Amino acid sequence: MAVYRPTHIPASEITPHSIYMSRRNFMGAAAASLALAGAGGSALAAPLQATPGAYKLDEKLTPKEAVTSYNNFYEFGTDKSDPSSNSGDFKPTPWSVKVDGLVGKPKEFGLEELMKMPLEDRTYRMRCVEGWSMVIPWIGFPLAALLDQVEPQGSAKYVSFETVVRPSEMPGQKGLFQPLPWPYVEGLRLDEARHPLTILAVGLYGETLPNQNGAPIRLVVPWKYGFKSIKSIVRILLTDKQPETTWKNSNAREYGFYSNVNPAVDHPRWSQATEQRIGEGGFFNTARRPTLPFNGYGDEVASLYAGMDLKANY
Ligand code: MTE
Repeated sequence: MAVYRPTHIPASEITPHSIYMSRRNFMGAAAASLALAGAGGSALAAPLQATPGAYKLDEKLTPKEAVTSYNNFYEFGTDKSDPSSNSGDFKPTPWSVKVDGLVGKPKEFGLEELMKMPLEDRTYRMRCVEGWSMVIPWIGFPLAALLDQVEPQGSAKYVSFETVVRPSEMPGQKGLFQPLPWPYVEGLRLDEARHPLTILAVGLYGETLPNQNGAPIRLVVPWKYGFKSIKSIVRILLTDKQPETTWKNSNAREYGFYSNVNPAVDHPRWSQATEQRIGEGGFFNTARRPTLPFNGYGDEVASLYAGMDLKANY
């Protein structure tokens, strides 16, 4: 059996984000936009209309340049710059998402139909398990709205998600070194999936999603570590069993099913108490801010976990 080595690495071993961003930023705006145009996905971005969302966040947005060039999307490679550099051949259209399992009305949704869902602006704080965070203006719609359409059965307790497998368009899925088993899979409890904060995003910064951010449709669960927010989804399955999840399968000691942002529960190899907000405080800022329980969304979501031991259920 293949042994998959976890490639999430401690913050201390990663190029400091301020230095990474300064290396990119010195290019200047013109060069940066050229670099993004070369990334393909961004070049295809189209303006997207949305209504103001219910959740307001009074925090400085992470610059779009950082949101679209500092990514984790291992299907395109494991370096932060790989997804923007290597996703130019990925084709997010045509696309469909199959929603089935324990539902009354299984259905395959075409992208055109998904884009007609009631789109909202949702600016969310996002926290990666590696110790960095961003504030991203997403455009999306509540996952609950999609689930309502397929009529989950009473026996459905969980929702699992699956990313597309396309080695011909995703260079990270080709070759000898495969950092993860494919497809990338994730899961939520049904009540987490139905929570109003949980959205399927189809855009960011007023445009359709760039390939590197999970085009054409990805999950966003802002109170959980970023790896739960699975990209380029092709299947959503309702089940009565806790779904397999890619990072837990790769290393169950380090990654659990719940993965709620929790400053009190350290990753076995590094602390989760603080984070670096990407793009904050200039190029050479190394200051870290405290990480908030549930990434600051505790008022909304803590009740989902009432009575649960969040150290055991990490
Ligand atoms: N989804 C897929 N299919 N493959 C991935 O490698 N990486 C995850 C998540 N979704 C990943 C994925 C991780 S580790 C993070 S932090 C977020 O995507 C990053 O999302 P962003 O690049 O849009 O900020």
